Amino acid sequence: MASLQSVRGTKDLLPSQIQDWYFIENIFRKCAEQFGYTELRTPIFEYTEVFLRGVGDTTDIVGKEMYTFDDKSGNSLTLRPEMTAALVRSVIQNSLIQQSSPTKLWYFGPFFRYERPQKGRYRQFHQFGAECLNTEFPESDLETILLANRIIKSLGIAESNLQINSLGNETVRANYKEELKNYLKLHFDKLSEDSQRRLESNPLRVIDSKDPKDIEISANAPKLKEYFDNESADHFGFVIKSLDELGIDYTLKDNLVRGLDYYSHTVFEFQSSYLGSQDSFGGGGRYNRLFEELGGKKAPSVGFAFGVERLLLILEQQNLLSNTAPRLDFYVMTSNSNDLPVAISYTDRLIKMGKSANYDLHRKSFKSQLKDANRLNAKYVLILGEDEIKNNQISFKNMESGEQITIAQADFEAQISNLI
Ligand code: HAM
Repeated sequence: MASLQSVRGTKDLLPSQIQDWYFIENIFRKCAEQFGYTELRTPIFEYTEVFLRGVGDTTDIVGKEMYTFDDKSGNSLTLRPEMTAALVRSVIQNSLIQQSSPTKLWYFGPFFRYERPQKGRYRQFHQFGAECLNTEFPESDLETILLANRIIKSLGIAESNLQINSLGNETVRANYKEELKNYLKLHFDKLSEDSQRRLESNPLRVIDSKDPKDIEISANAPKLKEYFDNESADHFGFVIKSLDELGIDYTLKDNLVRGLDYYSHTVFEFQSSYLGSQDSFGGGGRYNRLFEELGGKKAPSVGFAFGVERLLLILEQQNLLSNTAPRLDFYVMTSNSNDLPVAISYTDRLIKMGKSANYDLHRKSFKSQLKDANRLNAKYVLILGEDEIKNNQISFKNMESGEQITIAQADFEAQISNLI
């Protein structure tokens, strides 16, 4: 019965995979904290209006991909398709902006888009992201790229390509859009259906279309950078010059516009050849008007997000994933289930000492307990056999070396501290 399976485009995260998620979550947290970011958690759904106004109603995300529903009071709610708009909503509501100093926030969690599922593209996926709020200068664009880069390096990703572009300021973009529309109209019949539809509402998306018909026409389209004023050129110039000085590789990509409406000035994406057609594992850029769009005061900002599933696909192909279940420190065995209370008390002592420990919950035979200890990947088994109980002793078996020692129960705590 299909309705009793997980929903198409969603995945269970299994115990054998969880260590890898902890690994990357820890790196996100550590790097973000090193750069002075603190975590913000917001609800998984918002009023639909947040994304309509924030992400923009001409985007694919809002137009086609949102999980939107009415609750029982008739409010239109949406499962968050991305974080930036939701985060800005929360920052305005909770007055997290301080005058003349940046607010730096990171997040990690599930997001939802009704896309056609394929490798690297899911309907529930996870993002790690970071947003540097209330900073208009290009130093902050640079800093967010440096944070993203630090994460990529810390994860051990060997091969990634930073693609970068500038959309200029609003005036520049408005002038350019008019010129671009005029040019595209001359070639209307040759454009893909999607691009014909987008020509009026979102012409910039036409130039980053992957359709071969559009690519040919875009190749000769006027270039945005030819319309830059001093402000736009200086802003982007600083970012590029700084990347050069810091020795960070990048590719300038004239037709990178990104699929969300809020960007201006710097936009960037991280790509990897390990990913095939869904080759972008992260993206971001500057957004200077989003706070005002969502009813707040002006607070120019910049940020980015990585797709966690795509990072995992890269790490998997580089053989950097462990795919192991967590290890248990001790498994406490008894040869007689009447002695289980003794095993329980030893387990309790181990837990209090900060170790991980289990005892047999199925009143199984000694042999089956050993199997269980192996299944749980125990580092040691503690044995409370008949002899041990009679002589107030306890045995330890190292499951890797097979070495076994028997000690007085009175020396238990001291022995444990020597072991692990
Ligand atoms: P985005 O490019 O839409 O940007 O998403 C960021 C990343 O999320 C993508 O590069 C990709 O790795 C991952 N991603 C997106 N959709 C899916 C999907 N259906 N399945 C798997 N992974 C996916 C944003 O969301 C912006 N909010 C980023 C940003 C933050 N800009 C400024 N601040």
